[in-house]
Amino acid sequence: MAHILVEALLRRPVPRTPVWFMRQAGRYLPEYRKLRQQAGSFMNLCTNPELACEVSLQPLRRFRLDAAILFSDILTIPHAMGLGLYFNETEGPKFERPVCSEQDIDRLGRIDPETELRYVMEAVRLIRRELAGRVPLIGFAGSPWTLATYMVEGRSSRDFRTVKAMLYDRPDLMRSLLDKLTVAVADYLNAQIAAGVQVVMLFDTWGGVLTSEDYREFALAAARQVRERLNLSQGGRIVPTILFTKGGGQWLEAMAETGFDALGLDWTCDIGAARQRVGERVALQGNLDPVALYANPKTIQTKVEQILERFGPGSGHVFNLGHGILSDVDPAHVEVMVEAVHALSPAYHR
Ligand code: CP3
Repeated sequence: MAHILVEALLRRPVPRTPVWFMRQAGRYLPEYRKLRQQAGSFMNLCTNPELACEVSLQPLRRFRLDAAILFSDILTIPHAMGLGLYFNETEGPKFERPVCSEQDIDRLGRIDPETELRYVMEAVRLIRRELAGRVPLIGFAGSPWTLATYMVEGRSSRDFRTVKAMLYDRPDLMRSLLDKLTVAVADYLNAQIAAGVQVVMLFDTWGGVLTSEDYREFALAAARQVRERLNLSQGGRIVPTILFTKGGGQWLEAMAETGFDALGLDWTCDIGAARQRVGERVALQGNLDPVALYANPKTIQTKVEQILERFGPGSGHVFNLGHGILSDVDPAHVEVMVEAVHALSPAYHR
């Protein structure tokens, strides 16, 4: 049976707009917090396929979602490359051994996803088995540029001074880092596809901090090369691809030329204008402001309706948030959003 998420990403007719959302498995759910406490840490959840599978399925038990997303993290690749990932309770992810020099980059080896990231592939196989075809499974990776920001900064950053200074001072070094990450990300996504994911999404969370020129030359060029290396047929079916650049609204035309089937939009974009600009070439995913979920139910419904109305009639839209859900949102408000998409979107697909 065709899944409406896959159909909408390929801009084929659907009876209603599919809906899922970034970080749908996570801390806003009490059942997630409980399991995470039992596991002791976020990484223990990620590296245990049974627990990762359970967490992926949790939001589907509460809400009528049209996809599961693999429970993992974009930082599994640098972790597998030997940087020593750990999560500090208050400051987020950190690396014990950030990439600081040419030698550090030279030392980064090619990883074999079925060995070093076997726990991810096992989770994919398990989730597919548990889903039993009900909804498709989305696999993902960080974009080479976004991974490079964490690897060079060694942690989350506000102004990205270290990694951008490297880009400005030593563009040759940045290129060789991005080249290595391009191969690693593509190998990783191809392994996820072979293990069973039915859609892949590339998270370019920090593409938007670059100048237009550098975005194209570094972040977007690497994302395009990842896309070119993907083996996108799985048992005769197409695996659609989504590119999400937070803050990428001004570059949608260039993003639409990279071969991805869909573009993720953050909440600052007008989805109607975006469709006019690129809607003949790609599907669009988004883009409710995650903070709108703090508002009252009536307002949430209105905001959902505005997005559906701005996109307008026809296929090619996947409803989502403009970025990940925040960790203290009331799950009842999430339900209002999901149900509003179910109730209001069929009118746009007649
Ligand atoms: O969307 C999903 O439900 C799937 C799981 C998923 C996680 N991270 C789980 C997670 C996905 C797709 C990601 C991607 C990810 N991870 C991105 C790109 C997407 C985005 O949000 O822009 C980035 C930049 C990361 C890196 C990362 N991982 C950060 C910055 C943090 C700390 C954030 C925070 O809120 O503390 C993480 C940890 C993380 N990844 C958590 C989850 C559920 C929270 C861990 C916990 O404390 O339980």
